Amino acid sequence: MSVEKAQIFAMIAMAIDAREKAYAPYSNFKAGAAVLTQSKVFSGCNVENASYGLTMCAERVAIQKAVAEGETKILAVVIAAGDDQIVRPCGACLQVIAEFAASGSIPIVTATVNGEYDIHSLDEYMPMRFELKE
Ligand code: THU
Repeated sequence: MSVEKAQIFAMIAMAIDAREKAYAPYSNFKAGAAVLTQSKVFSGCNVENASYGLTMCAERVAIQKAVAEGETKILAVVIAAGDDQIVRPCGACLQVIAEFAASGSIPIVTATVNGEYDIHSLDEYMPMRFELKE
């Protein structure tokens, strides 16, 4: 299952837009995300907290919105952050992406706010990961 380039570009634009809503008064680091599901794309931004550990990354916010709307299959993830340096998803987010990914080959797109991007699969980011097997 592959995702069209045009879809990826549209999601990069959505993630850059969503980043504008970031609540990041502590780190001043804004991130945006877009998550493709079977029905639609969900966006998210990072939401920080005065109790720092409660901070939620942009990609997890987008995934939680999708799941709360009944979409539990993720086909692609885009993260937009940083001016000139591509930002990688954190380990916690990769584990949450893995929970809902349609397969290990789904694309994780990391984009700068200027629109440069690269694409690696979930399997590339997290080749050995925790899964609960009966
Ligand atoms: N952050 C994200 O939202 N996504 C990432 O992929 C990396 C980090 C956020 C968390 C925190 O609000 C800020 O960036 C600095 O770590």
